[in-house]
Order: sequence, then C-alpha cells, then structure tokens
Amino acid sequence: MATIIRNATVATLAGNQPYGLIKQGAIAVQGGKIQWVGKESAIPELYANHHPCDAGGKLVTPALIDCHTHLIFGGNRAQEFEQRLLGASYEEIARAGGGILSTVTQTRAASLDELVSAALPRMDALIAEGVTTVEIKSGYGLDEHTELKMLRAARELANRRPIRVVTSFLGAHAIPPEFKGNADAYIDRVCIPTLQRAAANGLVDYVDGFCENIAFSANQIERVFKVAQELGIPVKLHSEQLSHQGGTALATRYGALSADHVEYATEEDASLMAASNTVAVILPGAFYTLTETREPPIEAFRKYGVPMAVATDANPGSSPLFSPLLAMNMACTFFWLTPEEALLGVTKHAAQALGLADSGVLTPGRRADFAIWDVSHPAELAYMIGFNPLSERWINGECSSCS
Ligand code: NIG
Ligand code: FE
Repeated sequence: MATIIRNATVATLAGNQPYGLIKQGAIAVQGGKIQWVGKESAIPELYANHHPCDAGGKLVTPALIDCHTHLIFGGNRAQEFEQRLLGASYEEIARAGGGILSTVTQTRAASLDELVSAALPRMDALIAEGVTTVEIKSGYGLDEHTELKMLRAARELANRRPIRVVTSFLGAHAIPPEFKGNADAYIDRVCIPTLQRAAANGLVDYVDGFCENIAFSANQIERVFKVAQELGIPVKLHSEQLSHQGGTALATRYGALSADHVEYATEEDASLMAASNTVAVILPGAFYTLTETREPPIEAFRKYGVPMAVATDANPGSSPLFSPLLAMNMACTFFWLTPEEALLGVTKHAAQALGLADSGVLTPGRRADFAIWDVSHPAELAYMIGFNPLSERWINGECSSCS
C-alpha cells in the first residue's frame, strides 16, 4: 500500500520552475521511494484508494543533507573562543599548538562510547531541522587508533537514530605533535597506512584533506589522493580557506566531488571546478566564526555553472554551528545566495557533493526523504533567523517525527 501525501505545496527542486514548485500537490510513496509527484488533481487512478496523509497545505521539500561536518570530537574549545575575542587569530592559536590539536588531545582521551554520547545531541539538533543524511569526518585522531575510533563512532550514530551517516577520512587534517615539523613523515607513516586500514574495515566513504599553510601542501595531499584513487574512494578537499594553496586545482585533477570553504578560490579555480563537476561547498559558519572578510567567488561559480552546496561545518573550533537553517540564512546574508540557491545547497547540491544520486530532489525513484515545513513559501526557510518551522521529517518513506 502506498502513502499519498496530499494537500501540499511541493518544492521538488527539479524541473525549470523556481524551486520546482507544485501548488496543491501530492506525492505517492511506497517501498521507501517516491513513486509519483504532481498536482493533486492528477493523482493516478492507481493510487486513488491508498493511504492518504493530509499535509494541511504545508510545504514539502527534500529532506536536508548536511554534507560537511566534524560532529565527532572530544571536549570543546570555548576557551579558544575567549582567546580569539581577546585578539588571537585562529592561525596563531593553531601555530601555538592549540586549535585542532587541542581537540585531538581530547578526542584521543575519549572512549568510543563517550564520542558517540557527545555527538548525539549535536546530531539531534540537525535532525530537528529536517536532516536525514549527514557526512561526518575523522581528523581529530591523527593516529591509527583514534582515527578508526572516530569513524566507528560515526557509523554507530546511524544505529542510534533514523539517519543516514556517511564518513570522510580526514587523516590529513593537522600535523600531530609527535610529527611536529615533519608533515611528510606523518603522511607516509600514519595517514596513508591508517587510510588503508580504515578502508579495509569499510569505514571510509570519502577521503578529505586540509590543504593550507597551517596544515598540508598540495603535494602532500596529492600523495593521499593517489591512495584514495587506488582504493576507488572519491575525494573532496578543504581548500583555499585561509589562503590560496592550489588545493582546488589539485582536487579537480582527481575529480573531487567537492572543494570546500573556497574563500580564496579564483575564477580560474571556478572554471576548473566546472570542468570536473566539482561542487563548491560554502561554509558560512566558519566565515562567521573566524570573522573572515574574503568571500568565496560566488559570481564566478554562477558564471561557470559550478553547483554550490551549503553546510554547517559543525566543529568545535572554526564553526560551532549545528543549524543548517542558520547556515542557509548566513549564505544569503554574507554571500548573496538567493534563498533558492541556499535551499538547493542543502538538498540537491549537497547530494551531489556526496555523490548521492538517490536523494536531494523530489522525483520518482528517489529516496522518500522529505521535510514538511509550516511555511507557505520556500524562501521563508532561509529568511528566518533562529526559528525552526519543521513540522514532519520523513526518511525512507516513514515519518520519523509523527507520534
Ligand atoms: O572545516 N579547516 C579545517 N578544518 C575545520 C576546522 C576544524 C577545527 O577548527 O577544529 C574546518 O573549518
Ligand atoms: Fe571542515
């Protein structure tokens, strides 16, 4: 028996109309998949007597996808926040052994269970805003034991809540203290063997890195990408966040699914991204937290047709943001994305940034993952600040928030 969601405004995010909007629309769902979407007046005879569900005129969109997070970590960095407000920069704190490395110490000290328990309320905050797929990175272990522990904790989260979790191996995130001044040795002796071990254990869906003057050079990242390629795992990269290092160009040579942050990316980078189908992941939470002033080249992305995703970058340092709705609002206010671009950024283009062809738009054959919002127009989602109009969250054709 199918379920027919009726009396809905449906933002399919497919087709040529703005938002792919269907007023007085309906969706037929069966077997966890969307079977049919269209005008209520045109519901096929086949579904006429199936189980109806009245959306009460509310807005249905694809469920949200947070395609860039660091949800698993030990401790927090509130003290670093205080230091920054007293004038220290993110880069200075990192160079002095704080920043990412302070989270590494706390993550190494935490058990797998402690990491899972600490991450659950953060993930619940995403779920409360209609997220049904979340990407979670490692990168706060920087040794084999802790990197594997983080990836296992990420996988475990999917057993604790109705959500799809995908994982990125981010061993090339920072140079651990035991390899200070010897990034090459860290890449060869720890990062690459750990990637191979994690992949052999089925823990890695993507390989990521941090290409930056306080982290790894494009050459060092390339050594990791070569191994990812041998393993057949798609890559993505934190590139041009604080300076221009050539990471984006490297990522495009490896057919990266996404280049993330990209504040310092150039028009040339945008044209390379278009040619390699690489999504630009816009992370306004980090821009905001670090009081960055350099904006990503949004006009160039539009000019070359580079899809833009929007994500929280939820992490304890540069982006303690656990609200995709606020990320959408910030992307509009800081970078002049339109509300439609922001919504595409957390749905269709976020799916593309993760290589997930089964979600992100509401069309027949896709996963029946959608969000029902108590708003009358989709622009309201990016417009409101600190307000959550989610009414229902459906995953795999089941309402996970209905009692
Ligand atoms: O995406 N840029 C590098 N990595 C994270 C920051 C992580 C941290 O500060 O703990 C980011 O912003
Ligand atoms: Fe990040």
